[in-house]
Amino acid sequence: MDKIIIEGDNPLSGSVAISGAKNAVLPIMAAALMGKERATITRVPDLRDTKTMIRLMEIIGAVCNYDNGILTVDGSMVDNPEAPYELVKTMRASFYVLGPLLARFGIVRVSLPGGCAWGPRPVDFHLKGLEKLGAKITLENGYIIARSDRLQGAEIQFEFPSVGATGNIVMAAATAVGTTIIRNAAREPEIIQLCDYLNQMGSNISGQGSTTITIDGVDSLVSADVAVIPDRIEAGTFLTAGALLGEITIKDVNPHHLDSLLIKLKETGCTISTTEDTVTISPADSIQAADITTAVYPGFPTDLQAQWIAFMTLAQGSSMVTDTVYHDRFSHIPELNRLGANIKVDQNTAFVRGVKNLVGAPVMSTDIRASASLIIGGLIAKGTTEVNRVYHIDRGYEQIEEKFSGLGAKIWRESA
Ligand code: EPU
Repeated sequence: MDKIIIEGDNPLSGSVAISGAKNAVLPIMAAALMGKERATITRVPDLRDTKTMIRLMEIIGAVCNYDNGILTVDGSMVDNPEAPYELVKTMRASFYVLGPLLARFGIVRVSLPGGCAWGPRPVDFHLKGLEKLGAKITLENGYIIARSDRLQGAEIQFEFPSVGATGNIVMAAATAVGTTIIRNAAREPEIIQLCDYLNQMGSNISGQGSTTITIDGVDSLVSADVAVIPDRIEAGTFLTAGALLGEITIKDVNPHHLDSLLIKLKETGCTISTTEDTVTISPADSIQAADITTAVYPGFPTDLQAQWIAFMTLAQGSSMVTDTVYHDRFSHIPELNRLGANIKVDQNTAFVRGVKNLVGAPVMSTDIRASASLIIGGLIAKGTTEVNRVYHIDRGYEQIEEKFSGLGAKIWRESA
């Protein structure tokens, strides 16, 4: 099993290009299964999760070719509407094929995702939404089986603006009979891009980016090409590292997608400047502690909560970090404390008391974003940090050690 070794406390400088967004490309790949021709998706990051999705699409019958960030998907042979347990258990986002395959085939069999590293992550909104569209859903041997002759438009009100459920329902409703209205829909940029992509495929969706999305069903979709939006979470990960270790510029990003983070970074004393597609950050002489509360977009993303906590370990004073999206997403805390951080957790809030410095140690990653926070911890710690189980980080970050090395960090990968 690979591990990442970091000799910390080295300054960062220079610029780094941000990859296409994992959480945008995965639903786009699922949507491509609704077209019967060839789609070309560019700026596809080379990640374990994108590779898992390609494997899943091939099992389903799509012909995929991935080379140098360009993925072509030929949907003409798609004939097996099924997502097996072996893949769903390694990547919950496999569940995104539920809506598109049900719409295309009238039947789909998808393994029910289990819990994840930080607790239960139910899929009830997805299933209730599909039932509203007329699907009959059963659970057989751990698999969700959804059936429907032709889905019917309906009004759906989510209890919480779930990203995945919004994506699944939008895809399922794209070819339903009549109009579907989703209220309390997710407003994330990745959902906007999914809706825009479906419109390029011939669907009739409006309201994306607001809390109400309207989908006027069409008879069928055609394949279309798309370039994936920049990964705002990868961008935020580099910015929090720069906030501690030196002036860096992140390139190929959409700064507007980072508004909630940039406001908070400024509050800590960092200097930020932006252009249309870059953000430059210079650290403060002394970092002021700043509280955050995660929320759905445009709030502060839960996917940057762990990185923010790593940042706050060296702030002046104490901060509170509350996660309202995932109440148990704190598996990085004991590992950061192994580096000398002073963090306590009570319910869904982490209390971070700033310390003078962290000191390197072996640590274990438990999920994608926890791993990112441990890498930041290692970069700021004095001495050597060894981050184990880095397959988690490879799920969501493309060449993370090469990118940090390019900024001057002493970081490398070793195979065990
Ligand atoms: N929820 C339910 N029932 C559902 C669906 C969601 O109760 O049927 C709850 C969840 O338990 C959670 C909240 O609603 O408390 C939000 O979950 P959401 O459905 O929005 O999350 P997701 O679609 O499963 C995506 C990202 C996550 C990111 C969340 C929140 C992808 C592939 N995954 O997950 O990304 O944390 O939205 O923004 O887009 C990551 O990239 O590391 C990651 C975990």
